[in-house]
Amino acid sequence: MTDATHTDDENAESDGRFGRYGGQYVPEALMPALEELEDAYGRYVLENEDGFLEEFHRRLDDFGGRPTPLQRADRLSERYDTEVYLKREDLLHGGAHKLNNALGQVLLAKYMGKDRIIAETGAGQHGTATAMAAAHLGMPCTIYMGERDINRQRPNVFRMKINGAEVQPVTTGRGTLKEAISETMRDWAATVEDTHYVIGSVVGPHPFPSMVREFQAVISREARAQVQEKTGRLPDAVLACAGGGSNTMGSFEAFIGDDDVDLYAVEAGGSSLSVDEEAGVAPNSATLSTGGEGVLHGARTKLLQDHHGQIMESHSVSAGLDYAGVGPELAALADEGRVTAANVDDDAALEAFHRLSTDEGIIPALETAHAFGYLKQRQDELGDLVVVTVSGRGDKDLETVIEETEKREIGNAPDMSLFSGGLR
Ligand SMILES: Cc1ncc(COP(=O)(O)O)c(C=O)c1O
Repeated sequence: MTDATHTDDENAESDGRFGRYGGQYVPEALMPALEELEDAYGRYVLENEDGFLEEFHRRLDDFGGRPTPLQRADRLSERYDTEVYLKREDLLHGGAHKLNNALGQVLLAKYMGKDRIIAETGAGQHGTATAMAAAHLGMPCTIYMGERDINRQRPNVFRMKINGAEVQPVTTGRGTLKEAISETMRDWAATVEDTHYVIGSVVGPHPFPSMVREFQAVISREARAQVQEKTGRLPDAVLACAGGGSNTMGSFEAFIGDDDVDLYAVEAGGSSLSVDEEAGVAPNSATLSTGGEGVLHGARTKLLQDHHGQIMESHSVSAGLDYAGVGPELAALADEGRVTAANVDDDAALEAFHRLSTDEGIIPALETAHAFGYLKQRQDELGDLVVVTVSGRGDKDLETVIEETEKREIGNAPDMSLFSGGLR
């Protein structure tokens, strides 16, 4: 059994370290902002000053639609001969788990007296959630997004703009999440007095990894109670896809103290687990499995990097997993062996995307599909009762899925000629 925060012992809470990982590796100009945020996180979120938590949960329920259901997946349970339950974060407002954190941080910014919100986004889900939360709470908002991600996640760009956010394209590097985070940090360094940076995952300098985990922990606190209510027991395994790691940390938090519940963080295996050091390219985003220790975006953690410590270009068919780093707490839990680091390649993720769509009538985000790819691969080893978090819905991915499926032999996909000329 566990209660709230397994790693929030005095040491972790006071200096933001998770074993060898974490910390605050930032320019001096950002330290006052981090100290102010740490103070606000402690008072409002951990100590519930001014009734912050009541307002947060009221808004998550009324605006966000919590609690999300825990649903038995009938066809998958039969197919894999194990009880499969789905934690339906795709049904949260905005279509992904990202709103839990975005709403928490935008509300915290309000309590702190800030009057401007900035954020980065990869798949556009965090940007969308932040734009929605900012509109809901009446705050102006700017979202930084890599140009490559803008092109592959267009529906979310439209959604952000329609919610009144300004979308700033980032053209440096490969134009993905890494560059978008760097650009947002640059903006924050120049505007800390009136601006809060809503980081989108359990990454970055302390207190972000702890704070984002705390806002996302609602997923597993609900799921743990729901699974016991529906089945009378705890699951044998919990599976969740991992990019930066907010879905995993949120899905695992309440189960960490349950030693008999195995926790699997499923990363993107991309097209291959090998790396091209010379070209500085890792054709995957399997940071926990293949990365080395280094510093990125203000924290010591596991990274895809070359032997000079230069960050490599990562790859995944899903924009939201395409990140060369991972949250420091998740890296520590994987090192300790409490969390098993797994990965699934692009082909298997696409196959799983079509499987969930046709078997269960749920079109998952491509990120989410990775967790289902792992369920298929390891169905015999995961036990009799498995909870998988459906971190988001796949509407944003339809163009990518059609394009990527056409290039491959995916046995269970619909006839792709149905779509020719239809979407473009
Ligand atoms: C639906 C969905 N799942 C998972 C992720 C991965 O992020 P994280 O590892 O922080 O949950 C993203 C990121 O955009 C996402 O949109």
